[in-house]
Amino acid sequence: MEKRVSSIAGSPSPKTQLDELSFWQYSPESWNLHMPRYRLLFPFRSIDYNAEILDIGSGPRSVFEEVAPAVAKITACDTLAEQYNQLLKVKRFPIVAKVPKKRFALITMFNMIDHMDDPEELLAQMSEHLDDNGRLWLYVDLDRPWDKSKHPQCFRFWQVAPLMQQFFTITACGLDSEAPNLNAFWCICKPKANREMPTLWWSTKLGVIYGRNFIRRVYLAIMRRLVFARTNATRLPR
Ligand SMILES: C[S@@+](CC[C@H](N)C(=O)[O-])C[C@H]1O[C@@H](n2cnc3c(N)ncnc32)[C@H](O)[C@@H]1O
Repeated sequence: MEKRVSSIAGSPSPKTQLDELSFWQYSPESWNLHMPRYRLLFPFRSIDYNAEILDIGSGPRSVFEEVAPAVAKITACDTLAEQYNQLLKVKRFPIVAKVPKKRFALITMFNMIDHMDDPEELLAQMSEHLDDNGRLWLYVDLDRPWDKSKHPQCFRFWQVAPLMQQFFTITACGLDSEAPNLNAFWCICKPKANREMPTLWWSTKLGVIYGRNFIRRVYLAIMRRLVFARTNATRLPR
């Protein structure tokens, strides 16, 4: 097992963390905002809750609070653990600031690798904590749709599969659109294997989906304009 056991890997800057904390202080009820998307994309029903699960970058309350049964062994981990435990005191899985020295059957990284300066460092650390038969689920926004202060990373569709395949082997991945102008990358990974689908395959697949989404958006924007123009024309005084 790796010597380093702190979730400080990933180096989120103090400024990023401060802005992050302000967001959650302002809207703590958003802790499960994206859960409907995660539930659509990831096989939550297949989780073995007797096994160890790590939710890294959990935010003030882990999304597993919503789905996990009483027996679940969830480690919710976040660099702002202390502040989050103060902010939302009632929770089944208190947030911890350090990754325990063990391996996990499932590691989830939801909406978090764009919130730090060195995601590679954290992915390397997570690869040390993933069980030989374990799975890692990752979800991250593309093209930085939100403010730079909380999101130092701006991932593009062609960067994410190569990044993940440096440390893991992708078994499934795709793009998600939570809102019409949003693109997010999701993937399910296993530990790095000798044989894997070439990264180029995944990047090409993502490129096709990205292009298709783009064309659909442009088409919808044009249709909206046409309908708008027609409605206004019929309203003109004669
Ligand atoms: C937008 S929140 C995600 C919350 C939750 N996972 C979700 O999907 O709703 C991102 C979280 O990642 C945390 N974070 C940033 N860098 C981190 C790191 N290197 N290790 C652990 N947590 C980190 C931030 O403190 C923040 O709470």
